[in-house]
Amino acid sequence: MGKSVATVEQEVQQTLTMPVLTPYKMGRFHLSHRMVMPPMTRQRSWNNIPQPHAAVYYSQRATKGGLIISEATVISEAARGYKDTPGIWSKEQVEAWKPIVDAVHAKGGIFFCQIWHVGRASTYEYQPNGQAPISSTSNGLKPQVQANADEPAKFSPPRSLTADEIPQVLDQYRLAARNAMEAGFDGVEIHGAHGYLLDQFMKDHINDRTDQYGGSLENRCRFALEVVEAVANEIGADRVGLRLSPYADYLDSGDSNPTALGVYMAESLNKYGILYCHMVEPRMKLSEESFETTESLVPMRKAFRGTFIVAGGYDKEDGNKAVAENRTDLVSFGRLFLSNPDLPKRFELNAPLTKHNRSTYCLPDPVVGYTDYPFLENTA
Ligand SMILES: Cc1cc2nc3c(=O)[nH]c(=O)nc-3n(C[C@H](O)[C@H](O)[C@H](O)COP(=O)(O)O)c2cc1C
Repeated sequence: MGKSVATVEQEVQQTLTMPVLTPYKMGRFHLSHRMVMPPMTRQRSWNNIPQPHAAVYYSQRATKGGLIISEATVISEAARGYKDTPGIWSKEQVEAWKPIVDAVHAKGGIFFCQIWHVGRASTYEYQPNGQAPISSTSNGLKPQVQANADEPAKFSPPRSLTADEIPQVLDQYRLAARNAMEAGFDGVEIHGAHGYLLDQFMKDHINDRTDQYGGSLENRCRFALEVVEAVANEIGADRVGLRLSPYADYLDSGDSNPTALGVYMAESLNKYGILYCHMVEPRMKLSEESFETTESLVPMRKAFRGTFIVAGGYDKEDGNKAVAENRTDLVSFGRLFLSNPDLPKRFELNAPLTKHNRSTYCLPDPVVGYTDYPFLENTA
């Protein structure tokens, strides 16, 4: 039996008022809906050069007025920690990004580049001249169990960056941001989440410094805020976002007072007037598992004056609820976008969703698990 007229009318009404499908003005960008595709590393950029298959992948997920944030993109050779992640420090990489950015723009999408330094989550093999990876500490990372690998990932012991060396790293962030603009991106998202370099400075379970970059909350956040300032001065604050995960324990990060950390960062960002703050929910302590918790991002949402984006474990129902209750402006849907290239359309039509396949996340294949997730019929 078909649906009754009343049921269809009810569904249409729900869609018309579906909060994540309403428009939003994010600074200069007119978003036609609030569903963000967050950064997702896919390890298909051979030798750190973005490849043509990425143009297919991103353009499949692009919508007119929809925001996409690229997979984490390394700012220098020393910033690398994983195989075949894209870079943005060389002319060749900038040229390789251009057709990918063009493909997203051709669909009317807005495309930000997530810029990344892994810090101690690296090994000698990735470092120039086999040096030690840099961090806020000389304490190494324990081997980490990986989502789709049999063997735990091993890391080389890092060396603690001296305060004198910080300006060189700031320069790498500046160059990456400038290069991202040269490649045509609409802006950059600084990766300050998930236990990578900036998080290694912010979190007190890792940072054991006694200089002006360690100790107090203000000191631990200094480096991340210097990066924000440097990048904002380079390309304009209205094109800069920052991603943070104060509650996450990923890569042995973790902080004794994540709420204070998140609120301090949210308040401090107001000084620089950056476009958005992209925060990972407290329930996402590890990379993919969701925990029950009473903690929330509302204090950070209230403290930050720019656009707020939440991420971590969202589905249609609670994404809509978060927007309806004004707990956020925009909502990231990571794995749902990975396996549903036409996700906003599926939400609109109340269509079933395809489940993601973890074993193919980072498979070195230009198609499988990457561009072969199905579209709804006749909507590709
Ligand atoms: C395959 C994969 C790769 C990811 N890579 C990144 C990344 O490069 N940068 C980042 O900040 N987060 C990364 N994440 C985290 C996602 O952006 C997102 O926060 C996470 O998947 C939780 O959201 P979800 O429940 O909607 O999937 C990745 C997640 C997945 C599944």
